[in-house]
Amino acid sequence: MASLAMTEPPGKRLFIRTYGCQMNVHDSERMADVLRPLGYRMTDAPETADLVVLNTCHIREKATEKVYSELGRVKEMKLARAQEGGRMVVAVAGCVAQAEGAEIMRRQSAVDLVIGPQSYHRLPELIAKVHRARGERLATDFEAEAKFDSLPAERNPTGVTAFLTVQEGCDRFCTFCVVPYTRGAEFSRPSTAIEAEARSLTARGVREVTLLGQNVNAYRDEDETGLAGLVRRLARIPGLARIRYTTSHPADMGEDLIAAHGEVEALMPYLHLPVQSGSDRILKAMNRAHTVESYRRTAEKIRAARPDIALSSDFIVGFPGESEADFEATLDLVREVDFAGAFSFKYSRRPGTPAAAMAGQVDEAVKTERLARLQSLLEAQQRGFNAAQVGRALPVLFERPGRHPGQVIGRSPYLQAVHCEGGEGLIGKIAPVGIVDAAHNSLTGRLMLETA
Ligand code: 5AD
Ligand code: SF4
Repeated sequence: MASLAMTEPPGKRLFIRTYGCQMNVHDSERMADVLRPLGYRMTDAPETADLVVLNTCHIREKATEKVYSELGRVKEMKLARAQEGGRMVVAVAGCVAQAEGAEIMRRQSAVDLVIGPQSYHRLPELIAKVHRARGERLATDFEAEAKFDSLPAERNPTGVTAFLTVQEGCDRFCTFCVVPYTRGAEFSRPSTAIEAEARSLTARGVREVTLLGQNVNAYRDEDETGLAGLVRRLARIPGLARIRYTTSHPADMGEDLIAAHGEVEALMPYLHLPVQSGSDRILKAMNRAHTVESYRRTAEKIRAARPDIALSSDFIVGFPGESEADFEATLDLVREVDFAGAFSFKYSRRPGTPAAAMAGQVDEAVKTERLARLQSLLEAQQRGFNAAQVGRALPVLFERPGRHPGQVIGRSPYLQAVHCEGGEGLIGKIAPVGIVDAAHNSLTGRLMLETA
């Protein structure tokens, strides 16, 4: 553990000068609180600070001029820091910022951001964006919580299926999520490197790759063909039978990618497309950049391109301000879209994220009750989707031996686990299986005839 601590970037220093009333003193404390998870600790020496905040006040005469003259001094400190190779971020907050934000930015080039009292909860996002614009990484101490940090670990237990990271980071800043702070800005690997890795995996017996990214459909490569272009390119690799990708953002679900679902045989008919909520008011507060209607339309287009596609999603219940009516709108959307599977969570307050500071935090008991109602609906849909496969013949890619002798386990195109009698010689092969039974989380089938 000691070596881990040593490789971590040092904490950042925060200096806040507070003008005016008790309200401003309180606001300065709040700002320090929301910035703590980004690694900022208070200092009394502005010249050594990584972030200087002037929390201004409009009431006293000449207050604005005082701010400008203080900014002149801060600019000198910023220049001196830059000469030593250090970097300072300068923010103006408070009433003066509220009243003349644009004017401050115009008159004093040293100011990196201006923020009014209504927006302090957005400070982590705004600071993160200033650092990103400079190409810097953030030092963060957000608590890690694996279940919300959606990427499965890249591992390869069987040799038949493999994860392949194509993109990292996220620029979306959903207000509940730590990923944009912990994983940094969106970054895509070059498609040539990805293709080379996919070829080498295939040469070692991998038949299916899942392309991974925090915001995978924001993937951008040198020739701007995006994730759709990458999928088409990988689909030409001989021996690579199946391609999947996760996790997608609804607002990045382009026409070309939707079209690929109808045209690329290797692209499996399964899509994890988190919606989070079925209420526009809540989606807006989540900063999700999509509406219920746009999600609905995207789902329709994907189904038009690939009618049998299995759609899955993530949901958060009890986001701050979520009313019973908002929650029921989520249930309505679920009934309408009909999901083959889903993950659902109670909203969990992550210090430093904008939503953690929002008014209207929902009672734990209400969250528990809503989660139970949502999950019983989602589970019924998942059981329905699984039951609908009974009687069908599905191509199954066999991955591993089952628990009983002579049993093998594979996956359907829809990512369902399929249990089947058959020898281990089937592992790594795709064979048609007649589905005879369906449970909540898996299917049982009989081998029809063996293929390569
Ligand atoms: N509270 C509850 N759920 C969250 N998720 C991410 N952050 C939070 C949070 N603070 C969920 C979202 C996301 C999934 C990976 O985890 O639904 O899509
Ligand atoms: Fe987090 Fe996903 Fe939103 Fe990015 S798009 S901020 S990873 S929930």
